Amino acid sequence: MLSQAPLRDAVDQYEKLAPRYDKLHHRWLRHAGGEAQAALEGLVRALATPTSKFLDAGCGTGNLARGLIAEGMSPNMMTLLDPSAAMLARCADIRVPKIQGRLESLPFEDGAFDLVTCAWALETVPNPHLALVELCRVVRVGGALCLAFCADEPARGLADGLMRQALLYRGTGRFLSRSQLMQTIETFEDFEVRAIPSHGPASTLLAKRSGAIT
Ligand SMILES: C[S@@+](CC[C@H](N)C(=O)[O-])C[C@H]1O[C@@H](n2cnc3c(N)ncnc32)[C@H](O)[C@@H]1O
Repeated sequence: MLSQAPLRDAVDQYEKLAPRYDKLHHRWLRHAGGEAQAALEGLVRALATPTSKFLDAGCGTGNLARGLIAEGMSPNMMTLLDPSAAMLARCADIRVPKIQGRLESLPFEDGAFDLVTCAWALETVPNPHLALVELCRVVRVGGALCLAFCADEPARGLADGLMRQALLYRGTGRFLSRSQLMQTIETFEDFEVRAIPSHGPASTLLAKRSGAIT
């Protein structure tokens, strides 16, 4: 079980933040989370095939999907999910199914996706353990979950420390323990997890679901 300080539901905050979100998030990536984001994107490029069923859970304004489509990934097999209508409205240009829903109760069957990403959203939910159970549940045997999240790792300098304080002040997220997340995923049947090295208060994990398809 992940031990975490309680966090109130952040969806209302993201509803209000939606118009300014890209600017704020860009600042976060520039000063703190950029390496972890690059690692996540690299994993997706390496793992996605033209037939992969792909879910971006907690998609926000859709930047990950938009970037992948611009690089040539087919939107045909993509699904975006977020609980915030204002965030989903900003994905209007992305012609894929968009579902208003929560990580903690994903409205999909077990093993529905080959590839699931969750970038900077796990740390925003009140119950990240339940969210992790759900994210792993919808990964098919042989598929993978890629996570990028704010991690309880040492800050690199002033800017990175200020980014951390700003996030905590807004109350839109928290810093998760990478080792606890990894230990939790390893308790799930058939999952193997590894961390992709990056610096700063952010981390990227690849969780692969092994096992024979029956
Ligand atoms: C920091 S943003 C990350 C957005 C996007 N993944 C990105 O990389 O820019 C966090 C997102 O998580 C969403 N969120 C908040 N609570 C959630 C929940 N319970 N389930 C799924 N997503 C949630 C917010 O609406 C917001 O879009």
